[in-house]
Amino acid sequence: MNFDFTEEQKMIQESAKSFAENEIAPTAVERDINAIFPTEIVKKMGELGFMGMMVSPDYSGAGMDTISYVLAMIEISKVDASLGVIMSVNNSLVCWGLETYASDFIKEKYLVPLALGEKLGAFALSEPEAGSDATKQKTTADKEGEFYVLNGIKNWTSNGQSADYYLVMATTDKEKAHKGISTFLVEKGTEGFGHGVKEDKLGIRSSDTCSITFESCKVPAENLVWEEGKGFNFAMSTLNGGRIGIAAQAIGIAEASLDAALKYSQERKAFGREISKFQAIQFMIADMAVKIDAAKMLTLKAAALKDADKSYVTEAAMAKLYASKISVECALDSIQIHGGYGYVREYLVERYLRDSKITEIYEGTSEIQRIVIARSLLKK
Ligand code: CAA
Repeated sequence: MNFDFTEEQKMIQESAKSFAENEIAPTAVERDINAIFPTEIVKKMGELGFMGMMVSPDYSGAGMDTISYVLAMIEISKVDASLGVIMSVNNSLVCWGLETYASDFIKEKYLVPLALGEKLGAFALSEPEAGSDATKQKTTADKEGEFYVLNGIKNWTSNGQSADYYLVMATTDKEKAHKGISTFLVEKGTEGFGHGVKEDKLGIRSSDTCSITFESCKVPAENLVWEEGKGFNFAMSTLNGGRIGIAAQAIGIAEASLDAALKYSQERKAFGREISKFQAIQFMIADMAVKIDAAKMLTLKAAALKDADKSYVTEAAMAKLYASKISVECALDSIQIHGGYGYVREYLVERYLRDSKITEIYEGTSEIQRIVIARSLLKK
């Protein structure tokens, strides 16, 4: 087992860190308060190759491995978790899904601009009555000549307002339950496509989340991704990789919480010395460091398995389950160390708590991750 990163992986980590500190940090607080989508920053991230990190250069991607992606996701999310999810959805759920399953036509027309960051993608699976129970899709897609006509509503769509291309799961054959679900690439602006207002969220407020509506929305038949009836498998398969991305996002937030706790506890004095001199604080700091390292090991293991073309379904679920749990715990401990200062905006740690909570919910709740893990064990 080798714990060293390659020179290229270290370079990517360094470049993500410096980009995050120089280009993302200055506006992060204002964007969080006012829920402003970081359009210009996303464009720059595209130019640097962060929006299509794992896409092959044949489709204008950066051609990097999943380990590099995890390292970059951690650095970006450490400074602004909203940018973490924007990046993760485009890379894991949209680009990876298209490169793995879409036709050459779709790859040439849509994957290339997505990988270059010229266009942004979104992934529309959840519905008002199909969240964790994702097979219960009510959105329909009826074949009419050279088109599929989509009707229905999706919710909680990340990049919902800002995306250009949407991967939409819809039922093409009700009789076949989940084997009757298909995936379509829908362009924003198609007649009958609409989106709701931006959700007013607890955290990751700079990312835009909204519902999407389809009213007799005609999508060219050539925009069917993979084949009819494969839409649920497509969604599950892309979410496996997505869960690695969200685990990395959670780790980034946890690292930010630890850094803040280290800094504050060595500055703040109480009872005549820095509070870092007290064991009560040291124990919290030590626990945070152990949890972060364990979460990183799980996440890098899942990434390494994916890069080696081995099964990573269970490992990705374990990584997301654990990283999201400790992300919330680290944010809470960091607030505790900051005392009253942790409860106000000035010290950022309150944002880390708000941002961390979503990692236990989206791309499969913690309860769903436990189901995935338990099923893989019980099968044996
Ligand atoms: N990887 C690959 N395939 C999988 C899979 C996985 N992790 N989980 C299930 N499948 C496949 C099965 O192999 C089966 O395929 P076949 O029919 O070809 O044999 C098919 O999917 C159905 O599987 P199940 O019978 O196990 O389905 P189920 O209904 O019992 O359970 C579930 C499935 C695990 C609960 C699943 O519904 C699930 O993961 N739910 C959570 C959905 C989710 O993660 N939503 C996130 C929304 S997207 C989002 O958050 C993005 C964003 O914007 C940030």
